[in-house]
Amino acid sequence: MALRFASFCSKNCVLLCLVIFTYGASSDVDTVKEKTLAMIKPDGVDGKYVDAIKKIILDSGFSITQEIEHQLDEDTVKRFYVEHASKSFFSNLVQYMTSGPVRIMILEKENAIADWRALIGPTDAKKAKMTHPESVRALCGLSSERNCVHGSDSPQSAAREISLFFEKSSPGEVSAVS
Ligand code: CDP
Ligand code: MG
Repeated sequence: MALRFASFCSKNCVLLCLVIFTYGASSDVDTVKEKTLAMIKPDGVDGKYVDAIKKIILDSGFSITQEIEHQLDEDTVKRFYVEHASKSFFSNLVQYMTSGPVRIMILEKENAIADWRALIGPTDAKKAKMTHPESVRALCGLSSERNCVHGSDSPQSAAREISLFFEKSSPGEVSAVS
């Protein structure tokens, strides 16, 4: 009798563990978090929009896992915007991005890259004011250049941009590049 009871317990315990493990594993998959790079550009910092933008970020369900304020130099901006090096607006862009400090943040949540891009709105802030009046660029941007915020456009861009400003200190952890 005692032996039967022990065998019943051990079988059911294995079953219970299996259920807990399977449930735990699937809920992990459901909540995979993604990181993206957000930047408040010189016009946003100078215009005192940092607190308002951070409130929008947090109210939209993102965590800000890393944050630095930094004066970018020309070389860093050229590396950051390397895909635009041949564009006619590039030299003005470099001038604009080095005109004052920027606030750089790593945002984290499910679908962070696409959700942050959706929240900031179109590149041209004038267009954003008409078509996406609730967007961040509609709130604080002025033009197709002075659009006050940046967001990574793909997982590859996010990884590259994060590594430009933050370094891994231990697996999964990042800290500011000095
Ligand atoms: O920032 P986003 O990814 O929306 O736009 P982009 O096409 O990757 O351009 C990068 C940045 O270049 C923009 O955010 C603007 O500051 C600037 N730009 C500009 O000065 N003139 C344009 N016609 C387009 C972009
Ligand atoms: Mg872009």
